[in-house]
Amino acid sequence: MLILGLNMFHADASAAIVEDGKILFAVAEERLNRHKHYGGFPSLAVKACLDAVGAKITDVQHVAVGQDSDANLAKKVRYALANPAKVLNFIKMRQRKNAMRDVRSLLANALDVDARTLKFREHHLEHHIAHIASSYYCSPWDKAAGFSYDGSGDFVSTMTARCQGNDVQVLDRVFLPHSLGSFYTMICEFIGYKKYGDEGKVMGLAPYGKDTYVEEIRKILALKNGSFQLSMSYFKPLGADQGMQVLPDGTVRLARHFSAKMEKLFGAPREPHTEITQRDMDLAYAMQLCFEEVFFQLLNQLHPRVPEENLALAGGCALNSVANGKVFATTPFRRTWIQPAAGDEGLAIGAALHTYHSVLKQPRHEQMDHAYLGPEFSDATIESELKSAGVKYQRLERGPLLDAVSGEMVKGNVAGWFQGRMEWGPRALGNRSIVTHPGLPNMKDVLNARIKHREWFRPFAPSILGEAQAEYFEHDHPSPYMLHVYKIHPGKRERLSAVNHVDDTGRLQTVTREENPLYYDLIQTFKKKTGLPVILNTSFNENEPIVCTPGEAIDCFQRTKMDVLAIGPFFARKTEN
Ligand SMILES: [Fe+2]
Repeated sequence: MLILGLNMFHADASAAIVEDGKILFAVAEERLNRHKHYGGFPSLAVKACLDAVGAKITDVQHVAVGQDSDANLAKKVRYALANPAKVLNFIKMRQRKNAMRDVRSLLANALDVDARTLKFREHHLEHHIAHIASSYYCSPWDKAAGFSYDGSGDFVSTMTARCQGNDVQVLDRVFLPHSLGSFYTMICEFIGYKKYGDEGKVMGLAPYGKDTYVEEIRKILALKNGSFQLSMSYFKPLGADQGMQVLPDGTVRLARHFSAKMEKLFGAPREPHTEITQRDMDLAYAMQLCFEEVFFQLLNQLHPRVPEENLALAGGCALNSVANGKVFATTPFRRTWIQPAAGDEGLAIGAALHTYHSVLKQPRHEQMDHAYLGPEFSDATIESELKSAGVKYQRLERGPLLDAVSGEMVKGNVAGWFQGRMEWGPRALGNRSIVTHPGLPNMKDVLNARIKHREWFRPFAPSILGEAQAEYFEHDHPSPYMLHVYKIHPGKRERLSAVNHVDDTGRLQTVTREENPLYYDLIQTFKKKTGLPVILNTSFNENEPIVCTPGEAIDCFQRTKMDVLAIGPFFARKTEN
């Protein structure tokens, strides 16, 4: 049975295809059409899903969408009526949503087929149930607490659930305008990070700050009656799009969140690309601290209701790897399973799996044990791209390729590493990565100057062999999708200087041979030469969506100061090109 899952007309549009409960292929539209966070209809992603499994849309029996505009409708109407300025906006949004809901026509148009030939059953699933489903059904567990949080989806910002067997039973919802995601976004905007998805950058700024504004920020975000509330006077009144707007061309934009009260309290907001002051760092510090306080409190309240050690976590805020890394020390949960696409692209998987297990009552026998669910390219395709780009290269066997790339890293050179299927989710996990030595003192500056051009305060991440994690990090819960930040042991910090953040932490990726044998062996080869079971891993891109095709990787290699490129079995040096 084939089920197509979709996230559409929402940021990070995506598609996933599931056969008998197994995820065969999944990809975000941005990787294919090259528009970051694209929020239109995922036409190319749908085509890629069908092509990857050799199916036609007429072979698909169910289409599941991770959005249900009828969910929580009463709450929406009540909110609109209490805020008369929003009524017109609200009506317009409903009209647009109704037009978008004709999934059959949208798919028929995208694939150029007659809509009358499409016989699939259509399912719409509430946003946050789809988030929780995207983690729980991928986990190996039969029982877990479910938690999802983000800016908003279907008028909800936070959901807790009891996950058991084939079901996700909702326990609580936090409705808009109260939202941990909006809180985080508002302060990020105030300190000059105004683009959709900038929140992850500011997380790295927080440890540079001091405890100056924590009491002030606690007034904005307060725990109340077992839940939390935002003090709305610090926010511009939320419109029908709740801050995030998807333009007709699929571009995702943020409307300003903060009110004049923020300026009165903290002075003028920082403009992008101007100097970051201590005030901005202190605000980032308070923002992360208050966010964590509320998150842990909500988890501690959830645990007695679902007294399990397993936590299935998703939603855009679940990309806060700093908070994730502290869950074990601050709550009774002992294991986390976090969907690698914790943001809204993950809804495609959640909606499809929920349809299979909960709606159609089909048994659970699959779990997601790696994130390599995207497109791959044959050696012949890669070679012909290299030739047409005029790149001089040599073809190497597996051993010599690993030896060549690790040898370059030992010297502090930077390698583009393009192998196998593209990762699902926002992190590069060793198939579309740029890799180098994690312990040379100037490595971070070299990478930034030559390729990445990132803000000075953002750390680079380590990939570490699974069996070495406890020796280097203060926590041994695995972090396969780079979604946990842990302290690095004092004795190891100097040897990992390029991936050791200012607070002596690292956002690690735990690598096992089962998940990615080639990448595992690359780190192993590096270890043989240096004694270090760790390499620096950053995404293969330069201010663009992560590269997907060989052509994009070769283009990035040619226009940046990358030293070498390992693409499939082919190896190229910048000095020869
Ligand atoms: Fe979401």
